[in-house]
Amino acid sequence: MELVFATGNSHKLKEASDILGKNVTLIMPKKLGYKGDIPETGATIEANSKMKCQFVWNKFGKTCFADDTALEVPSLGGAPGVHSARYAGEGHDDTANRAKLLDELTKVDRRKKNIRAARFRTVVTLIHKGTLYTFEGTMNGTIAEKESGEGGFGYDSIFIPDGCSCTFAEMSENQKNAISHRGIAMRKLANFLSRLQ
Ligand code: IMP
Repeated sequence: MELVFATGNSHKLKEASDILGKNVTLIMPKKLGYKGDIPETGATIEANSKMKCQFVWNKFGKTCFADDTALEVPSLGGAPGVHSARYAGEGHDDTANRAKLLDELTKVDRRKKNIRAARFRTVVTLIHKGTLYTFEGTMNGTIAEKESGEGGFGYDSIFIPDGCSCTFAEMSENQKNAISHRGIAMRKLANFLSRLQ
């Protein structure tokens, strides 16, 4: 089965394709000739996930899915949240985003509890034959004091999932996929797709 994945992020493509397995061929919009940005101007990750998927469906009319992910830190009022990709300003600079998050955490009132508690939340939207379906995955964890690890992308090097002693960036791809927010949401998608075939 062929599926268009509404992303330009090759890390996400690799994770998704490892989880969906070899019966599913993933195509990025740029392979179909679309080189522009996919709009994500919604107020929530649910809205953004749906907007990206709908955009690709309207353009190509092929079965497609999108994911949108937020890192939510309750001691920062849920930030970076829906603004995770541009927390340090426009430009999607992962290094600057991580530095800003570590810095903001040093300013939180020390009397607050669980200052470094965080969670990743992913919402996947699928459009198949014009009908829209959503799948969600969450992973709770802690923001590390400093960066560790070379793997992954985004906030991986500062996120320690619950029950683990290292960051996502210190794990193998398989280890991350087995427990991550995206892994959980994508396995729900995979399960749904297997029943369509
Ligand atoms: P988006 O879903 O591509 O909009 O991602 C929002 C932000 O979260 C971007 O800064 C990504 O780099 C980051 N992000 C998304 N998924 C992950 C992940 O699995 N690990 C770490 N950072 C992520």
